[in-house]
Amino acid sequence: MLKLVVLSGAGVSAESGIPTFRDAGGLWEGHDVMEVASPQGWQKNPELVLDFYNKRRAAAAAAKPNEGHLALASLEEDFDVTVITQNIDNLHEQAGSSNVIHLHGLLSQARSSIDENMIYDIGTKDINLGDLCKKGSQLRPNIVWFGEMVPMIEKAAKISEQADIFIVVGTSLAVYPAASLIDYVPYTSKIYVVDPNMPYIKDKHNIKLVNAKATTGLKEIAVELKANYH
Ligand code: APR
Repeated sequence: MLKLVVLSGAGVSAESGIPTFRDAGGLWEGHDVMEVASPQGWQKNPELVLDFYNKRRAAAAAAKPNEGHLALASLEEDFDVTVITQNIDNLHEQAGSSNVIHLHGLLSQARSSIDENMIYDIGTKDINLGDLCKKGSQLRPNIVWFGEMVPMIEKAAKISEQADIFIVVGTSLAVYPAASLIDYVPYTSKIYVVDPNMPYIKDKHNIKLVNAKATTGLKEIAVELKANYH
């Protein structure tokens, strides 16, 4: 089976009703991103940060996977698929994708603020001030904030190196190191980019640009891939 790797971003969940980041003009639900998504913001006002992610978690819990997520899941019938997502919702898993790497963490997990390896599944529950890890420190969302290391990046880079086909969908490719994964894809592999507002890509070798929303674009690609690579 050919190895198919997907790099997804906020745009794939947009049609499920979860707003993207940069389309909102640098503000995220009315907040400066550094206020709610950085270690400095957390130190300054943990209550605001917890409240912000509690609201994001509730919104994600109410969202359903869309036809784009479903088209990616259906590709597992014909390809060995890994989805590398920057998204913190679990809509890829809900759609049926079985290998999903969350580069920037997950809303459904909390972690200790002194030990990044102490991770707890919380499902759709809130995290509140006073909720502590086993070592007695405040729990925080298990989200990779601006300025923090991306623990899954090495694994994601190795998988990207193995891609026969690489699909980029719904990401502005503005945030590193996630945006650099496209550089690990072998030169001879086929790359698809799906976005209604194409991100900048320096090397256009073997790339098909699909100027469309995730739902229509991914359905189109799934049909093409199943017909051509089967
Ligand atoms: N279908 C496909 N793409 C879409 C759609 C749609 N329906 N609607 C918008 N887009 C595209 C936009 O044109 C844009 O290129 O999705 C992209 C969203 O880009 P960003 O908002 O920058 O999101 P993303 O690339 O995922 O951000 C990366 O930045 O804020 C941090 O950690 C956060 O994971 C996030 C990272």
